[in-house]
Amino acid sequence: MSKIYFYCKSCGYESPKWLGKCPSCNQWNTFVEELKPTLSKNKPNQYSNNYSKAVPIGSIKNENSQMRPTSDSELNIVLGGGIVSGSVILLAGEPGIGKSTLLLQIALRHNAKVLYISGEEAPSQIKLRADRLGINNNDCIIFNETSSSKIINHCSQTTSDKNPYSLVIVDSIQTLFSDYIESPVGSVSQIKQCCSELVQFAKKSNIAVILIGHITKEGQIAGPKILEHMVDVVVNFEGEKNHMYRLLRASKNRFGPTSKVGVYEMQETGLRPVLNPSTILINQNGSYASGTTIASTFQGQKTFLVEVQALVTRAVYGTPQRSSVGFNAKRLNMLLAVMEKKCGFKLSTKDVFLNIAGGISISDPSMDLAVIASILSSNEDLIIQSKLCLSGEVGLNGEIRPVPRIDEHIEEAKRVGFEKIIISSKNKIIKKIDGIMVIQCSKVMDVYTCISNLLNQNRNE
Ligand code: TYD
Ligand code: MG
Repeated sequence: MSKIYFYCKSCGYESPKWLGKCPSCNQWNTFVEELKPTLSKNKPNQYSNNYSKAVPIGSIKNENSQMRPTSDSELNIVLGGGIVSGSVILLAGEPGIGKSTLLLQIALRHNAKVLYISGEEAPSQIKLRADRLGINNNDCIIFNETSSSKIINHCSQTTSDKNPYSLVIVDSIQTLFSDYIESPVGSVSQIKQCCSELVQFAKKSNIAVILIGHITKEGQIAGPKILEHMVDVVVNFEGEKNHMYRLLRASKNRFGPTSKVGVYEMQETGLRPVLNPSTILINQNGSYASGTTIASTFQGQKTFLVEVQALVTRAVYGTPQRSSVGFNAKRLNMLLAVMEKKCGFKLSTKDVFLNIAGGISISDPSMDLAVIASILSSNEDLIIQSKLCLSGEVGLNGEIRPVPRIDEHIEEAKRVGFEKIIISSKNKIIKKIDGIMVIQCSKVMDVYTCISNLLNQNRNE
């Protein structure tokens, strides 16, 4: 008999009764009612007897698990070299961000046979997209199917072919259903079941599988969070839909680091890797408004220069508003508290808006100094020199903490044409770099003095 159960949409936690807050992931209002999945009596659970013999570790051959680079340089960087055969990768992102575009272009440019399964779009729509990308490749096979067992059967039949699939792409995991459980498509239990069947298939056949998973900001749809622990690699595709730039980063990687980042630009003809992010993320014509500074930040093996914009105005309503796009709102509040308590700036009566230009979101603490400088510049309504950039973390005592790989920050700033860089006095510069002035500060107040001198210079000019 089927039993009613409650599942957390965010992490998959199971409970016999409805809960307001999930005890596992602490999210509010994420529980949905579902029938506890029952295995169909007629159909054997084909995955229950799959386990191989227990063997000593030394006798295991690993020649089958090779890392194969893809045609996409940014994806290779994020994955730590390429796709490992037999691995399962989850590509998560909001709808419309470009997941299908990215994977279709990877499928079309792959140098081996790829199966692209689409439960979301008709084959003609996929062909239209491929025409838009301007690539044709008959080794890219399109399969319009949503039944997990039919997909696995199809793939298993072709493993003995001369030219078997080297990669299977599923767009998206939310559209698949498994015959082995009775639960509606897109429900937590269906997503979990389909994912586990595909994971077992990948391990058994040694074919790599990429799953697309939709997430929404509100976590409305049963999300890829549930799948994170089942797959080998989780890659997140981020960005603002209305902006051109997208960031690809791994949040879990069993075969490589998770620190690397890929940058793409969405163009009319698909996603193009951005090899030199600094030059596109900042306004290089030197005409800045007050409240704008340039931060040098290190994201996954790349030094980026990004434009930080702040707007500080007198609060119209009783409670001042604090809003942040592309930067952690809690960190913004912390920095404002440090400025208020340790540096004596009266910002508690002001509205503060912060924006990272280009629609990208950065979580590196080395942005702190630029955020503070932007807020000060907007508060004083004066323009900071356009040839100055900042890189440093701010602590709760108002101290400026060093950031790793400072030489790379300085070098990148110089390369892009900056004349001055403000960093922490604790940072040891190993390489002397000519042509750029390095200003070292130990406290937020020092930065303020330095910036106000620059502000005064600007005022006098
Ligand atoms: P899509 O890959 O369908 O997003 P997802 O699969 O994540 O839902 O991409 C959607 C957006 O990308 C859509 O608004 C159109 C835009 N786009 C381009 O700008 N250029 C292109 O070449 C393509 C194929 C799409
Ligand atoms: Mg899509």
